[in-house]
Amino acid sequence: MSTPYELLGGESGVRRLADEFYKVMAERKEAQKIRKMHSENLSPIKEKLFMFLSGWMGGPDLYLMKHGTICLSSPHAAYKIGSDERDQWLACMDQALLNIEASEEVREMLKEPMFQLADVMRNAD
Ligand code: HEM
Repeated sequence: MSTPYELLGGESGVRRLADEFYKVMAERKEAQKIRKMHSENLSPIKEKLFMFLSGWMGGPDLYLMKHGTICLSSPHAAYKIGSDERDQWLACMDQALLNIEASEEVREMLKEPMFQLADVMRNAD
């Protein structure tokens, strides 16, 4: 069975997804609350999300190699993340997947695990 990394087109596809994700976050009216939690310059976090998703989706473990861990709880601990923030994050991801024309197969494959991952970042109601 193919990994989401392969189904998205490997490195270039996953990079496109990370870029598109923060583009959607910047443009989406409903996401402004979470956009404001991020730095003005989104370039460094685009790279970090790309590196994290690469390993998480079955490709090279770039984030692990650079940061020595794949635990994202501590970088998120400084921000109040409740179910609203989680759901806005997930809505941006759904839209980004549509914008890069990810197949229904890979979108379906990612749905539940992506929810579980985002829910791990939740530290408030
Ligand atoms: C599947 C869920 C998520 C993934 C994969 C993810 C990924 C990441 C990564 C890789 C980083 C950089 C960590 C580092 O500094 O090494 C980060 C930072 C951050 N994330 Fe998330 N995240 C997720 C969910 C969320 C949610 C739900 C929020 C809610 C608002 C959020 C808000 C933030 C913020 C504010 C930062 C710091 C940004 C900055 O420094 O500019 N994340 N995230």
